[in-house]
Amino acid sequence: MPAIAIIGAQWGDEGKGKATDLLGSSVDYVVKFNGGNNAGHTVVITQDDGTSEKYALHLLPSGILTPGCTPVIGNGVVVDLSVLFEEIDGLEKRGIDTSALKVSASAHVIADYNRQVDKVTERFLGSRRIGTTGRGIGPTYADKMNRIGIRIQDLFDEKILRSKVEGALELKNQILTKIYNRRGFTVDAIVEDLLQYADRLAPYVCDTGLLLHEALERGETVLLEAGQATLLDVDHGTYPFVTSSSATAGGACTGSGIAPSRLTQVIGIVKAYTTRVGEGPFPTELHDENGEFLRKAGWEFGTTTGRPRRCGWYDAVIARYAARVNGVTDFVLTKLDVLTGLEQVPVCVAYDVDGVRHDEMPVNQTDFHHAAPIFEYLPGWAEDISQARTFEDLPANAQAYVKRVEELSGARMSVVGVGPARDQSVVIHPLV
Ligand code: IMP
Repeated sequence: MPAIAIIGAQWGDEGKGKATDLLGSSVDYVVKFNGGNNAGHTVVITQDDGTSEKYALHLLPSGILTPGCTPVIGNGVVVDLSVLFEEIDGLEKRGIDTSALKVSASAHVIADYNRQVDKVTERFLGSRRIGTTGRGIGPTYADKMNRIGIRIQDLFDEKILRSKVEGALELKNQILTKIYNRRGFTVDAIVEDLLQYADRLAPYVCDTGLLLHEALERGETVLLEAGQATLLDVDHGTYPFVTSSSATAGGACTGSGIAPSRLTQVIGIVKAYTTRVGEGPFPTELHDENGEFLRKAGWEFGTTTGRPRRCGWYDAVIARYAARVNGVTDFVLTKLDVLTGLEQVPVCVAYDVDGVRHDEMPVNQTDFHHAAPIFEYLPGWAEDISQARTFEDLPANAQAYVKRVEELSGARMSVVGVGPARDQSVVIHPLV
């Protein structure tokens, strides 16, 4: 019966993998519904003997690590097949069974030329570049919208595949050779590259929309896990400094084929501070030793690209915005432990835009670029909170921090993360 969406409420890397993992055995299906291998979930699983294993997943839904759970790559995803099988092989080598994976026949495929176009476009844009991950995500979604994309199902009909690749390359090769002065691609090379995966892929492919519908009809629980986050959503994010997919709760429905009326819960993930990779406005960004502190203490380096993340204080304006756009029912506040040791913790409550106070996201991009944070300063705490498991275990100032950001952010804080391991969470309201 319940379909639950997990959404990043900032600019990504909020720790969604951990929240997914926390729902654990109560979930029957975990669906990735947008993006591709630009995402990066790090999941830490503590074994019975106390040792922990760290998994970095880029394309596979984190539910692949939960026995009994069916991981699904939905129609809204763009799939790099070499990465898909690299991840499958990597997990199988570590003893993880991946045979339950389902891949939508309607998901689009990232072809070699999409990666090439991504890289050369960024170089061409120069100072106006987006700072993409270079994985070909944007160009593949552009092909989808232009109706010249290649879908998973095309791999099972060579004639169709060839004719679609021919169509796409007619345009791409002109762009690559005439505008960017690069070598073009041959139809044969692209078709051959894609076809090498067809036999291995076939057992995973199905009508995932129907599969999920039937699961919901049977009363099973479906978790829709967003890649990227609200402020990177192509419609609702800080355009053009966004990814090319729909990373919000609306996208969870479009990208999976689940009807909006099925969604019963929307879990927003927010970090106790803010990070961003790539270019674009970021009002609470810190360029001083505090930013360095957050980067080091929170180990803020990209899972996918290794890039150092830009760091800043908690921004309640964007949290409120994310609560509204997604209809967040519960927030999971991650990495509270990273703030331990600060004398006081600033929280951005509103923006000053050229002398005018804004309590909500400014409507114009230019205003958002000019937004200066208006801070409230909350008292910090020095106690180690990594062992806290109930709200009462937290020191008074940490409790007050959680309560205040809850008041400012537009939905209840149901879980607080106090360390990277699965059990390092304070559960205030159980998620399911
Ligand atoms: P693309 O998704 O590679 O096209 O990159 C577009 C923007 O989204 C860039 O600023 C990326 O850094 C950002 N981005 C993409 N994936 C992630 C993610 O998983 N976390 C944070 N930022 C991301």
